[in-house]
Amino acid sequence: MVAEAEAAIAAHFGLAHAVGVGSGTEALWLSLMALDLPAQSRIAVPALSFFATAEAVLLAGHQPVFVDVLPDRPLMDPTQVPSDVAAVVLVHLFGMRCPTPAVDVPIVSDAAQCAGWGHGAPQGVLSSLSLYPSKTLGVAGDGGVVLTDDDWLAEKVRRIGTHGAARRDLHVELGTTSRLDAVQAAVALALLPHVPAWVERRRSIADAYDAVVQGLPRDPADPVHQYVFLTDDRDALRQRLDAAGIDNGVYYSHPMDIQPTLTDQPIGAVASRCPNAGRYCERALSVPVHEGLTDDDVARVLEVLA
Ligand SMILES: Cc1ncc(COP(=O)(O)O)c(C=O)c1O
Repeated sequence: MVAEAEAAIAAHFGLAHAVGVGSGTEALWLSLMALDLPAQSRIAVPALSFFATAEAVLLAGHQPVFVDVLPDRPLMDPTQVPSDVAAVVLVHLFGMRCPTPAVDVPIVSDAAQCAGWGHGAPQGVLSSLSLYPSKTLGVAGDGGVVLTDDDWLAEKVRRIGTHGAARRDLHVELGTTSRLDAVQAAVALALLPHVPAWVERRRSIADAYDAVVQGLPRDPADPVHQYVFLTDDRDALRQRLDAAGIDNGVYYSHPMDIQPTLTDQPIGAVASRCPNAGRYCERALSVPVHEGLTDDDVARVLEVLA
């Protein structure tokens, strides 16, 4: 069952290999371990992502180097990637394809939010996908997948996820336990054929919202993992959405470089070094866009937004 799900997910992204692991975080962590970089290498990550992106770099024994995002999109500015990094993690936030920086070091894609995207294979030697229930291809618990076209890297990631064992009782490198369990694989396999229709529905809901608010710039191939728009009136709007019983959230409220685990300071006590990310965090708001919404649900959201 796991092998079947892996093959189906690899085909979904047009890549040769998919290795099932325990979560999207582990998928990125194992990908970075597989690069075999010297300890404490500097690895570029965007200032905006779910914190797991930076955490995976730290867990792999490296240092995240936070790069500001573009002025108009929460995606790493490719012109600001420092020349001394040993690798770059691109995050395709909300399934928006991050531009590729011109660097001569390995690129890994954090494609956690990218199920259903129409951009072809994510850039880089390895990509990580999350199967967490909130994702478009969300299973009934935790799960993740490492994607690659490289036979050797696929085998290495699989080995790292099984304690670095080349065979039973022969541990040739440091690894951990990270497996996609068979039940979650069965769920992924059953849900995957529905993803294209779900993504179409998400796109059409996003089009409706775009008519009344300033949504993020969208490529027709984006799968719309979240619908995010920018507003100068966020607190008041959130109150109106709450009063109408409409779920809403901020993805993300702070750039990653000021998270307390990195600064040893309370959140907000230290200013981010990434001003575009900071401005985005002050204005971003998201409303429901998932395929389970009825036309009436969408109309209710539009009524509050308009
Ligand atoms: C961009 C990004 N990276 C990594 C992760 C981690 O995935 P998981 O929750 O499956 O560990 C997530 C999950 O939300 C994510 O959105």
